[in-house]
Formats: sequence, structure tokens, C-alpha cells
Amino acid sequence: MCGIVGYIGALSAKEVLLNGLGRLEYRGYDSAGIALMGEDGGAPQILKTTNKVEALRKDAEAVPDAHAGIGHTRWATHGAVNVINAHPHRAGRVTLVHNGIVENYQRLRARLADQGRTPVSETDTEIAAMLIDSYYRGDPHEAVRRAAADMEGSFTLAILFDDHPDKVYAICRNSPLTVMHTGQGSFLGSDVLAFLHYGRKYYAPANDLLCELTAEGIAFFDPADRPVALQEKTVDWDVDSADKQGYPHYMIKEIHEQPSVLRRTVRQYIVEDRVDFSCDDLEPDLFEGVEHVHIVACGTAMHAGLTAKPMFEQLAGVLVSVEVSSEFRDREARINPRTLYILVSQSGETADTLAALRRIREGGAKLLSVINVKGSTMARESRNVVYTQAGPEIAVASTKAFTTQVAVLFLVALKMAQDRGVDVSNEVAALRRVHKQVERVLSRRPAIAEAARMLAAARDIFYLGRGMDMALAEEGSLKIKEISYIHAEAYPAGEMKHGTISLIEPGVPTVLIATQKNCYAKSLLCAQENRSRGGEVLLIVPDGWHVEKDGADVVLRIPGDGGFMSAFGAAATLQLLAYECAYQKGMPIDQPRNLAKSVTVA
Ligand code: F6R
Repeated sequence: MCGIVGYIGALSAKEVLLNGLGRLEYRGYDSAGIALMGEDGGAPQILKTTNKVEALRKDAEAVPDAHAGIGHTRWATHGAVNVINAHPHRAGRVTLVHNGIVENYQRLRARLADQGRTPVSETDTEIAAMLIDSYYRGDPHEAVRRAAADMEGSFTLAILFDDHPDKVYAICRNSPLTVMHTGQGSFLGSDVLAFLHYGRKYYAPANDLLCELTAEGIAFFDPADRPVALQEKTVDWDVDSADKQGYPHYMIKEIHEQPSVLRRTVRQYIVEDRVDFSCDDLEPDLFEGVEHVHIVACGTAMHAGLTAKPMFEQLAGVLVSVEVSSEFRDREARINPRTLYILVSQSGETADTLAALRRIREGGAKLLSVINVKGSTMARESRNVVYTQAGPEIAVASTKAFTTQVAVLFLVALKMAQDRGVDVSNEVAALRRVHKQVERVLSRRPAIAEAARMLAAARDIFYLGRGMDMALAEEGSLKIKEISYIHAEAYPAGEMKHGTISLIEPGVPTVLIATQKNCYAKSLLCAQENRSRGGEVLLIVPDGWHVEKDGADVVLRIPGDGGFMSAFGAAATLQLLAYECAYQKGMPIDQPRNLAKSVTVA
């Protein structure tokens, strides 16, 4: 939540900052702002808007360029969405932008008030600026270090000092920061995406290291102000994958990327027809003696856990529970040393999942993280990580991260089954081919777009399924809610008649997912029950499975013959349905209201 950028060097700072902010807009888009520092120092030129980065770009045409600056795109936490609360914030000779939450800002605010300092905004960020300024006697290192020592919570700060126009400073704690130096200058961003078009080698500074960026290089200092050397990292995915590549939205581009990223994700963990995680150097006894798996994640990542649960139970014979990270955290879950905890996160930065990770680690239980973003906080704090190879996911609505998470969880389930002597060669072979299933779903997009018309007109929609299909129903309903703003509810198909069916009437459509043979007949019955009450039914079933002529209003087919692997075709169909519905309604698909891509606040 919130994206920050910074730059100093020979290029146009305006251009670098605005380009970087455009790429980080997925992190929040309530407001945007930049501060441009002139070579002679003094107060930087500050521009802020409650519009999008493109509006800021227009405003910036009117001001002179600079060699250094910082910028911010906001997802509001403290204070309303207005220009006063927008970053950058300024206090005395200090100008800064911030991502994260300074948890003790009320206490700091009271302390600063005693010194006669009164903020103008409602933000914790302005308090951070005032705190640094209160310690500033001409030495930026000392001021930032002392302020950071006083602050609790999570923060990444990028800071300018009026009287040090040749430097940009940054520091982070429990919040992402990446920095890069090239012949063109020094760059910083919440995510490498911010500066990826200028280079591929970057640093990910650890907590509390002060980064001093100049046009000539970057120096790092520990909390005792001793210089520290860091290891450079290299972006290992295709830089072009961070662009829209001709698609109107990132979401549809990312839906279309699924065949290739699924192929890549699955292939890396299959060696000679067996599941093999040795490339990720997991603890050798990680899966040994595990009787229970507890999957902890948020939103779509949690749905990936629910989707994989039946495979763990049926093939590996282990009991699985799946829990939302915030609930796990809030109920102060007891940690069971005989449980394998699996945390799932695209970003690796989600605050509640990160808190769960720390709790499980402290409890000493076995822990495996399934993550997409390399170098993310969770990846750094986990001994055992299995990576999805989805590449950068920019659309707020998660698609390719979901299917690759399901693929990795299936691989873990198959590995546990394999280790217990179960023959899973058929499933391994099928998993290798799932990318083809998704390719075929994508080729059916026109039919899905047509079917989406039925949903676009609705105010409420039910998503129903049984077993694994129920997990997919949850994901399908989340997708349509977040980008179409239609109220959608996922419900177990077998549970409708225990009360909820009273809501079915003409104009309340149902999306029924029926891909599991063992309960197919019962699912069709549910379609009948809803239709006879006037509710239209859109049925998603595998190719070739029989549906009576009056069994549903619309039937969408997915390739394959049902079973676990149909999760991928069904997911892609549900994603396209949500996309096409939002498209028909003219919604801001990549930037739905009130949302941000990574939820780094609890
Ligand atoms: C929905 C969506 C969210 C995320 C959730 C967890 O489309 O993207 O529900 O899945 O916020 O995020 P990560 O996976 O980054 O932990």
C-alpha cells in the first residue's frame, strides 16, 4: 500500500519519478505527489493531486525540471483523501514520502506538540517528518537514525534535506525498499518495477539500514553509522512482462499469461516425472511425519489453499485446515509443533500473513511459504520458500498468481503423497498439461463474454459449488465483487436449501461450478432448484458431460474430464467472466475503488 520513488542523477528527475509512480500506481491511487530538488538546494518544489499520476504529469509540465526528487502514490490509512494529507510532507528543512504505518505516531505527535510543533495534516507521515526535523542539526545520518529509533511499526521513508541537495536518503523497517545505481544515477522504489527500465541489478536493504543515494553511487550505513556492503540482486524475469503489451488492461494481459507462467511454475518442480523441490533447498525433513497441514493466507491466496485442500486430503492422506491470516492472528492461534504451516502470498508483504509467519516461527513449527515476489519480506524471513513463477502481477485483481499458487500447492500435496508411497504419476503428468487446458479456455473467450451479459445486469449473484468447486466459487465471487462492484456471494451448493434459497428470484443469477464427478448429479439438481424459483443459472462443466436441455440458462464448457485439474480451466473461466462483466460495465478494471495491490496494513 502506497508506492514511493526517489531519484538523483543526470536524467530528468521529473520523468524518472513520474514514470516510476505510474508503475507503482497498483500500490494505491488515492493521491499522488512529487518533490523536486534544485541543484542549489532550498525548499523543493512540491506538487500533489488527489487525481491519478497522469494528472500529476500534466501539472508537472508547468514547473522546472530537477536532478533529484522523491514521489509517492497513496493508499490512504491516516486521514481523508485530500491534498493536505497527500505526500510529500514537509517539516522545517525535511521533505519526505512514506509507505507503512508509524504505530506510535499519536505519542510522538504529543511529544512534538510539547516542543511547539503542530502538524497541518492528519497523517503519521508528517509526524515522521517533524520528528526527523526535530533531531536535525545539519547531520542527516544522525537525524534519521534517531527518529527511526523512536518510531514503531512499519515504514519506508525517502527523504530530502534542503541543505543537502546532492543526496537522497532512504530507510525501511518491515516495509519494502529497493535501490539501484547505474551510470545514469541512483534510483529507489517500493518495488523494482519503479526503475526496471533503467537497469536490472538492485539492492534490497535490510531493516534500519540508512541508504545514502548520490548521483555517483549508493552507500549503506548500519544503526551505529558504520558503512555496510550489500550484495546486489538481479531481476530474473522478463522486463517486458511488466508492460501491458497492447492489452487494454493488465488484468486481461495477466489472464492471458497463465499458460506460460503455469508451464514454467510446474516444470521447475518436476524432475523425471517426480515432484522435486531440491532447487529451492527446503529443509530435508520438512514433510516428514506431518499429519496436519494448516494453510494461512488472505483473499485470493487463501482461496488457493481451499482449492488445494481436497488434493492434500485425498492423495496425501493429511488433514488440512485453511484460515484467513487476520483470524489466525486475532485469535492468537496455538502453534502445533506437529503441524506443517503453509503461508501463501503473491506479494510476500501482506501484513497479516507476515504476522502469522512470525508467530509460527516463534512457535517453532514447520513452516513453508509459497510466494511470488522474490526478495519480499516473507521470502527473506522464511527458511523454506517455494516460488510461483507468475512474474510481476500488476492488476489489483489477482489471476495468474492464483493459478500458479494452486499449481504449487498441488505440487506440495503430490510430493507429500509421493513421499508416503502413493503413485501419483497420473496426477503429475496431468499437472504438466494444465497450461493447455487454460489455453483452450482462453480461446473460448467470445462465449464467455456473451455469458457475462447475464451477470452484468444483476445486483446480486450467487456462486455455488461443492467440494473443490466451492473454493473456486469463492474465488469467482471475489473477482466479480472487486472489479464490477456487484454483490456476489459464494455458497456451498448443498447448503442453499437450508435457508439461503429464499433469496433466489428472477434477476438473481447463479454461477454454478460442477466439475467433480462424485457430486455432479447433486449439483445439477441445485441448478433445477434455483431455476424453478425464477433464478437464471450459468453452469460451468467439463466438455462432454451431459446437461439436460433445460438444465441451465447458459452452459460454459471447460476442457478435460473434471477432477482436481479442472481447477485451472474453471478458474480461468471465472476470471474471464469477471473481466468481461466489468468491461461491459465500463469499470476501472485495473484500479478498483478502495483497493490496493499489497495490503501492508493489518
Ligand atoms: C484479490 C486479491 C487479494 C489478495 C490478498 C493477499 O484479487 O488479489 O485478495 O489475494 O490481498 O495478497 P497476497 O497474496 O499478496 O498476500
